Amino acid sequence: MGGERRLRVAPVAHRSRLTGAVPALGDGAVRGDPVEPAQEHLDVDRAAVARPLARVRGGSLRAARAVTRPARRQQVGRTVAPAARAGQEVLDRAVARPRRDRAPHAALAVALPDVVDCRHDPPTPNVATEPRRDDAACVAFLQWALPRLGLHWAGYRKVRRQVCRRLHRRLAELGLPDLDAYRARLAADPAEWDVLATLTPVTISRFARDRVVFDALAHEVVPTLGRVRLRAWSAGCASGEEAYTLALLWPAMDVLATDVHPAVLERARRAAYPRSSLRELTASERERAFVTRGDEHVVRPEIAARVTVARHDVRDPPPGGPFDLVLCRNVAFTYLDEDRRHAVLAGMASAVRAGGALVIGLHEALPPSPWFAPWPEARAVHRRSGRRAGDATP
Ligand SMILES: C[S@@+](CC[C@H](N)C(=O)[O-])C[C@H]1O[C@@H](n2cnc3c(N)ncnc32)[C@H](O)[C@@H]1O
Repeated sequence: MGGERRLRVAPVAHRSRLTGAVPALGDGAVRGDPVEPAQEHLDVDRAAVARPLARVRGGSLRAARAVTRPARRQQVGRTVAPAARAGQEVLDRAVARPRRDRAPHAALAVALPDVVDCRHDPPTPNVATEPRRDDAACVAFLQWALPRLGLHWAGYRKVRRQVCRRLHRRLAELGLPDLDAYRARLAADPAEWDVLATLTPVTISRFARDRVVFDALAHEVVPTLGRVRLRAWSAGCASGEEAYTLALLWPAMDVLATDVHPAVLERARRAAYPRSSLRELTASERERAFVTRGDEHVVRPEIAARVTVARHDVRDPPPGGPFDLVLCRNVAFTYLDEDRRHAVLAGMASAVRAGGALVIGLHEALPPSPWFAPWPEARAVHRRSGRRAGDATP
């Protein structure tokens, strides 16, 4: 091959021996950029992926191994023990809900390895070896599909990966080769739009997210609400992190936590979190709020008891009220289109009592309205005026 040599993927990549030592690449060499597509390797009868040798640190291999049973990310370390040896680094990775036959692809998506042990993975087209092409296709699809669902593409730009991963899982479920085929499916089967809608929520959150907002609530807002017992609503609560933060910080507050996505509501009810979700809490808050159970931090029952978790779509009329405090952060005013933002704001106006507060995301803005004015000295917080919710004149 004219001086070019391809990485020889030695039989050590074979599944039964991956946990053993992997020899250095030796005379293995590879063609230059770009990354080679997934290949069948004749000797090992497995798909393998080669990277330019220059990127292989010190001649050592990075090997990705399949995680075969459904496992959440934090369980992976326990379900498959790492087997790093001299000259070998084994990446055991999984996405949140790996499918049996996609796990090596998940590993690839997380950190491109040199060799993939595809023990339980039939050599299917490898989505992760062509990330750029995949991403461009996903972006084009989202720019086309989101407005048709009343959603705002710009809100998804930075966080699209979660949705793109779900889309690829849906393609696999339907046995479709790509997103063009999925568009055809949507055209032929309008009910698929409902399924697509369930794939779009971005569910990233954490306790005391954007700490500065909770500090402003503590110093500027909550003391002025002037009630012994407060009612709060966390709209678009994700897995409950925001709602339990409120209950932790204000012992005299009852919190309604709602979301549209059944999977996150289930997690909110479980109230058990990885340590990474707690990083904006102080040590004493963590101590007050959680008991540890294995790798998880479980909200103490006396705090959890003040939080009610329920399903609700912010586009529907508010669930009860009036509330002293409503948090609608990183939901409606990021992901919904303009018309729906106005409708949600009108709903929020009827849910917050006069003098109460509406909190939005730190990087969000409210549409102009007669109902809310910025709260002095409190970023992202708006005070409810006395104007009736039905009065739309600014
Ligand atoms: C990015 S998370 C924000 C969580 C939390 N409010 C925060 O700021 O950390 C957005 C959440 O809004 C939920 N969501 C999206 N659309 C919704 C809708 N129409 N009604 C209710 N919840 C929705 C998603 O399921 C997701 O859990």
